[in-house]
Amino acid sequence: MLAHRFCKVCAVLFAALISGAAPVAVRAQAATELHPPAGSRDGWPQQAVRAAHGMVATDEALASRAGLEILQRGGNAVDAAVATSFALAVVEPAAGNIGGGGFMLVRLADGRTTFFDYREMAPGKASRDMYIGADGKLDQQASAVGMRAVAVPGTVAGLELALKTYGTMKLAAVMTPAIRLAEDGFPVSERFASELQSQRPGLQRFALSRRIFLKDGAMFRAGETLRQPELAATLKRIAKLGAADFYRGETARLLADDMARLGGLITLEDLANYQPKTREVLRAKYSSDGHSWEVITAPPPSSGGVAVIEALNMLQAIPLKSWNDVESVHMVAEVMRRIFADRAAYLADPDFASVPVAGLTDACYAKEVAATIDPRHASSSKEIRAGTPHACGISAESATPPQTMVSLGEGPHTTHFSVVDAAGNAIACTTTLNNSYGSHVTSSAGFLLNNEMDDFTTQPGLPNGFNLIQSEANAIAPRHRPLSSMTPTIVLRDGKLSFVTGSPGGPTIISATLLSILNWMRFGMEAQAAINAPRFHHQWLPDRVLLERDFPTGIESALNARGHETQRINRMGTVNAIAIDPATGDRLGAADPRHDGSAQGY
Ligand code: DON
Repeated sequence: MLAHRFCKVCAVLFAALISGAAPVAVRAQAATELHPPAGSRDGWPQQAVRAAHGMVATDEALASRAGLEILQRGGNAVDAAVATSFALAVVEPAAGNIGGGGFMLVRLADGRTTFFDYREMAPGKASRDMYIGADGKLDQQASAVGMRAVAVPGTVAGLELALKTYGTMKLAAVMTPAIRLAEDGFPVSERFASELQSQRPGLQRFALSRRIFLKDGAMFRAGETLRQPELAATLKRIAKLGAADFYRGETARLLADDMARLGGLITLEDLANYQPKTREVLRAKYSSDGHSWEVITAPPPSSGGVAVIEALNMLQAIPLKSWNDVESVHMVAEVMRRIFADRAAYLADPDFASVPVAGLTDACYAKEVAATIDPRHASSSKEIRAGTPHACGISAESATPPQTMVSLGEGPHTTHFSVVDAAGNAIACTTTLNNSYGSHVTSSAGFLLNNEMDDFTTQPGLPNGFNLIQSEANAIAPRHRPLSSMTPTIVLRDGKLSFVTGSPGGPTIISATLLSILNWMRFGMEAQAAINAPRFHHQWLPDRVLLERDFPTGIESALNARGHETQRINRMGTVNAIAIDPATGDRLGAADPRHDGSAQGY
């Protein structure tokens, strides 16, 4: 077994040492031509983990091991993904979850694709202005912390559906590693201990969160064991009875009682009515350096797939050199500005809103929008508005006009993992509680609850915790799914599996995922280099380019000279990707050293 594990200290040392990224050639990768990683990032892995059969790349070594264990027991990628997801609910409580939701993108080796949408839903008693007080002011805390922030969780139903659809093993079998980790416990890492310390103010407000995650105030030190007996009991019930326990059984009763006691809105009826969905994936084709590429990605209620395809459509005709080239960074930042303007206007739950997906992802539309970019000067977001998406041959005038825009925000944790099995089945899966530790409330059934209600447009006209602007179509309404940025994506090269990717990071999910695809598909970077490369982000509003701390300083000044406002941020996204070596078929696990990423294969 091969494995990488990265420490926080290494990441900090690395960030301090980096001065810039080396230029990379503009071509698609071939096995014989794998490029060295960008920059000399001490402590970060410089090569992907290589394995011939299967690979799992996640935020946490124990979760990757859980997935690998299932692959080695003969399970397929879906079996392993379900095992990994339940394990993340135990070892990465900030984001891995059974109290939240997610998206799982599946591409089977025979070419079949499915998108499992197990996004949370607003409870039946939710209403458009539920977080707005009598004074007309938004109570931002109420949609972020505590029981009223919680939307109906979808993860357990979604994982069961994925397993029943494509898995080969029983739920009880794939849940074995997660149950073991919850019951026997696992050693708290340095990163986890310091994260719990920083989350103390929120967690200590809720009795069970305080007891389980803060040891009633005594706090965990690195190396100590975290056991979660209530969670273990819940996982055992689910293993035995399936999602029925979570939505209509003992777990549902515990959750509904908690809600009634602590002022939440979710009822037994909301839980019983929750439905995961299978949706058609979004697809787009590109050519680059003599190869044909196909991008398979997330449909609404994710905004990410639409945005990534729109961006790649615009960039198809734009030459890119490297992230050490101001022209390339400028053009991509301008593309990002425009896709986020469209996101703000058009994206919402497709079950209730008419989202112009075909127009937004159309090549002619992209050409028109790209023509508004000045290659030498930054545009102003005040002047950039959402376009009028339309397909080739259909006039722009006949397309639906944009919705009234309002604002929304982002939070700091979610988790993305990738799995490829020996047969070539691939999974890109992103799950979230929204913010780190979600609502910070732990239910009596032992799991943290999401604060996904904050992904709705909580008050038209105001930005959310991620500073995002969103449309009226994303307003709160019973049984609607809040708009997401999660973008699990799979890329094919000449019809064959090539790259499995995705990220956490609120709106920066879209940029981190897009950049990982460009690094692999357009720049031909080695897989780990594609993940290590410094990242940047523009989301239309606020009008500034965010640059990772180690982004080349010369590029920042050159961007400023073109009229871009810039701001440094520590790190952006956590892309746990798997690439396929086109010559050997080897799986190249590239976990993100920005977190405790771990790629494990056999
Ligand atoms: O679904 C979304 O877009 C957000 N709830 C994701 C939040 C997130 O990625 C926070 N993490 N870093």
